[in-house]
Amino acid sequence: MTPGGNDGYAQSLFCQELSLNMKLCPIVAAFSSKRQCTCATLGLMLIAASLMPVPGRAQNIPTGARPAAQAAQYTGPGSCSSSSCHGSVQPRTETRVLQNEYSTWVVRDRHAKAFEVLTSAVAQRMARILKLSKAEEAPKCLACHALAVPVEKQARTFSVRDGVSCESCHGPASAWLGPHTTRGWTHAQSVSAGMFDSKDLIRRSEKCLSCHLGTAEQFVDHEMLAAGHPDLYFELAAFTATMPAHWKEPLAEDPWREVRAWSVGQAVQMREALEQLTRRAERGPWPEFAELQCYACHHALTTPEQSWRQLRGYAGRRAGDPPWNASRFVVLRSWARILNPETARQLEEAVNRVAELTSRMDADRKAVASAARAGSAAADALARQSNGMKFSPEMVLRLQKLICADGDYVAQNGERAAEQAAMALDSIFTAYARNAHPQNEKAVREAIEGLFQQVQNPSAFRPQSFTTQMSRVNALLGGS
Ligand code: HEC
Ligand code: HEC
Ligand code: HEC
Ligand code: HEC
Repeated sequence: MTPGGNDGYAQSLFCQELSLNMKLCPIVAAFSSKRQCTCATLGLMLIAASLMPVPGRAQNIPTGARPAAQAAQYTGPGSCSSSSCHGSVQPRTETRVLQNEYSTWVVRDRHAKAFEVLTSAVAQRMARILKLSKAEEAPKCLACHALAVPVEKQARTFSVRDGVSCESCHGPASAWLGPHTTRGWTHAQSVSAGMFDSKDLIRRSEKCLSCHLGTAEQFVDHEMLAAGHPDLYFELAAFTATMPAHWKEPLAEDPWREVRAWSVGQAVQMREALEQLTRRAERGPWPEFAELQCYACHHALTTPEQSWRQLRGYAGRRAGDPPWNASRFVVLRSWARILNPETARQLEEAVNRVAELTSRMDADRKAVASAARAGSAAADALARQSNGMKFSPEMVLRLQKLICADGDYVAQNGERAAEQAAMALDSIFTAYARNAHPQNEKAVREAIEGLFQQVQNPSAFRPQSFTTQMSRVNALLGGS
């Protein structure tokens, strides 16, 4: 495809031109190699850029998009970085989008440093252990740490050094880059021209999880964990809040946004996790330790008198067999019971079977795969229902209380499960406080903070005291 044939593209080339010029400026060169920059430097940079001669803007931009299939090419983050596009330093108020998205990403967003971390000492050692020549050149690592696409999918050359950039989340831009800046152009038009629909929470979850959980093509298994990769976990609402936002969530139309994001994200990650388990049960090393509870193996031993594990016992498995990691289920189950008791029952049945089969060292891998598949279908149904749900304060209060009341079950499933409960209550309570104005908001927040403290040191996690803290949150939430 030749991008030059479209007048709309000419305007975006203007944006690109500017960013290429910017790259010649020494401050900018230093900036892009170190990716550390104060806002003041960035400001200077952008002022300098805006003083540069500006090629005439294309007028009469055609609004028709090319067919998405023909046009699925990537243009690189430089295409979005001019100060008149998404590279403004200050957010704009007169436009619908903030227009400082590039600045937010490049200065504050960890995704912009995702390539750089591959050059760290830990990553280098990881590469040695895994017998890769260099982490920063290995497709196995670049898959999630950069916008690494084959040359034929690049509309212009750009570097993997930019890390996880605009099109990693928003999809290949060549077909909508030009037209999307024209007056009256809609999000739906961009989507039909190949933009990824990250406004849809199901699609957004899937996109995040492609790197924060894994797919058939890109994954983090126990071999990589043992080599030094951090364990992957996710919660859509919490991770969305942690990312320095370069957008405005539609709170006016959707006041329960965080609860919707949390519930959709939970169901989608349950579905994706079960699909990952299915793939692993079907081929590759088994047992795949990354499917199991990390701290069931990785904890320090105590005297028998002090062992909470021996005190707890080993319900549903032979003593000492490592349990399945149910962290992506333990909180979802409370929501599923409210949302749809019948689907909840199907999911729970499948999950119990998965847990029982997976913790056996001599597991029947086919049976694991078929139980996981049944569960993933149920989780998919829950995701769709959650996305269209009409929430009420009563329902959201009930959800929080059910989660808290399930504290013991959550805690028995280990530190990762407890962490999911803490993130869930944090996200859900944010929306609840905004909409229902509970008088003791501060006290509830402090109690939820107490849950996070319980999971700070995973090896020292104590289920009993986590459960106690969950009861405290429950009492403070009030209600019946
Ligand atoms: C499935 C996607 C995926 C793959 C494949 C992957 N990573 Fe990662 N990596 C991530 C995510 C996501 C994080 C951030 C985890 C978090 O903070 O929750 C991360 C974090 C890291 C970190 C820690 C960064 C920091 O800020 O401390 C290092 C180092 C790292 N990865 C190296 C590698 C190397 C080396 C490879 C290849 C052998 C690799 N990764 C492959 C997704 C992936
Ligand atoms: C890690 C994923 C990710 C990366 C990287 C990313 N974005 Fe986004 N972006 C999102 C999400 C999620 C939203 C909110 C949902 C939406 O509006 O599409 C969003 C929203 C936006 C919006 C607002 C759209 C609207 O209609 O309100 C713009 C503009 C945008 N991003 C531009 C950029 C640019 C430019 C870059 C690169 C400099 C970038 N994004 C990088 C995830 C990402
Ligand atoms: C192309 C892969 C990819 C996609 C897609 C992606 N991420 Fe990431 N994300 C990463 C990697 C890699 C890191 C680690 C970067 C680092 O440590 O420098 C990361 C880091 C993060 C962090 C920082 C974590 C921490 O411990 O501070 C947050 C928050 C985050 N991502 C949220 C999201 C959200 C929300 C989405 C979806 C809208 C998303 N990510 C989509 C790869 C991805
Ligand atoms: C069934 C037991 C088992 C489970 C479950 C398990 N591991 Fe491991 N892990 C091991 C063994 C065995 C080693 C190798 C230890 C050695 O060589 O000394 C190891 C090594 C490691 C190492 C490197 C050792 C170190 O001290 O730095 C890390 C990190 C690690 N695992 C992380 C994880 C994470 C994260 C999980 C959960 C997602 C997990 N493991 C689940 C058994 C397990």
